[in-house]
Amino acid sequence: DKGRGQKPVLWHPLYCISRSRSPPGRESLLEIVMAADLWTPDSWRAKPIEQAPVYPDLGALGDVEKQLSGFPPLVFAGEARALKRALAKVQSGQSFLLQGGDCAESFAEHSADNIRDFFRVFLQMAVVLTFAAASPVVKVGRIAGQFAKPRTNPTEKIDGVELPIYRGDIINDSNFTVEGRTPDPRRQLEAYRQSAATLNLLRAFATGGYASLENAHRWMLGFVEHSPQSSRYQELADRITETLNFMKAIGLEGAAHQELRQTDFYTSHEALLLGYEQSLTRVDSTTGDHYATSGHMLWIGDRTRQLDHAHVEYCRGIKNPIGLKCGPSLKADDMLRLIDTLNPANEAGRLTLIARFGSEKIFDHLPALIRAVQREGKKVIWSCDPMHGNTISASGYKTRPFERIMSEIRSFFAIHQAEGTYAGGVHLEMTGKNVTECTGGARQILETDLRNRYHTYCDPRLNAE
Ligand code: PEP
Ligand code: CO
Repeated sequence: DKGRGQKPVLWHPLYCISRSRSPPGRESLLEIVMAADLWTPDSWRAKPIEQAPVYPDLGALGDVEKQLSGFPPLVFAGEARALKRALAKVQSGQSFLLQGGDCAESFAEHSADNIRDFFRVFLQMAVVLTFAAASPVVKVGRIAGQFAKPRTNPTEKIDGVELPIYRGDIINDSNFTVEGRTPDPRRQLEAYRQSAATLNLLRAFATGGYASLENAHRWMLGFVEHSPQSSRYQELADRITETLNFMKAIGLEGAAHQELRQTDFYTSHEALLLGYEQSLTRVDSTTGDHYATSGHMLWIGDRTRQLDHAHVEYCRGIKNPIGLKCGPSLKADDMLRLIDTLNPANEAGRLTLIARFGSEKIFDHLPALIRAVQREGKKVIWSCDPMHGNTISASGYKTRPFERIMSEIRSFFAIHQAEGTYAGGVHLEMTGKNVTECTGGARQILETDLRNRYHTYCDPRLNAE
């Protein structure tokens, strides 16, 4: 009964049987059912899992998941399908994907100002890309749900004290105390609440007039206005105004064309905390398909993309657009198996491969993966995350040199050009604020400047400038 959203009758025993296999030729009915690749929103629970927090109070966790299951969806299946259609155009080279936002959203920095500043700089970036490349831009924020973080080490040691590592505000607190670092399921309710409020404001900005192209001049941020880069943006905004005036003069009024007054803005986050994702997975009544309703697009991180593990299992069954982070350890064969599992119908717009190799390693890895995809005729979107392969330590901070970020992006485009394939998008960690987290850039931030405004809860972000 796949597709009708009912749980299979033979559900629970599958877990037990998965541990004890019968000899070949003598499989039980349960094993046969199991081998049929049955997917349910909780089939991931029978798989090995990486990066899962250890909750001390499983009763409380169960209560929270039950509550979340009854809450309204944050996004709707129809919207996820619209994003998939927009991404299909990226896949075929007619559009460009801009994805970006915080590495980790935080409870403490949830404010209208932060959301507005992020959205404003995002619109600026999108309009520059649209105008300069004469290409539609698909706008996807790392926002309204980007709370859970995969970490390299499970614990952290300070002055001889060892505590669980901070895994994002949806799981624990960044404060280095026993209480703070203990995973607390109630944080999932707070993350849901914050996601709903953020999404509400984003929807208002996107459709309520703020995103109108007539506002292109007003999107200039306070500090960017006085930036060495600002005249370039001003010039472009002038040209847009000129174009709009011309259109008006020949009778094409903005009021009649909603494309000029509003925009489509989608949300995305890493599908890391699977209990939360499962609780917000719903059956779409029009198609009978399952959709994650915690965000429009979900991606699988570089640390949790093992083929037979929980995160791939969960993501293969939901119909949303899916991203897959591709780092240096990904081999072409494994990538092809993941593509087959995540996009068995080879549907355009379903799967975005997010390459994150590092400015020095990209030439060693990306060409072989592109060739494998081409050889097998797989429909994927190639996007470049120039952040996660370019993290270094300097003056006690995690940082990223702007030149390396730019270099990986340039190489990404050059490689696609050489292979005759389409460089479809970029995936950035960024904020609308004037932070000092990456070095270099418009104002040549130095390592010694990092401490001035280093506010990130996880990885260093590009600032608005
Ligand atoms: C991230 O996008 O914040 C992240 C952890 O990326 P990756 O899985 O590519 O390391
Ligand atoms: Co990050």
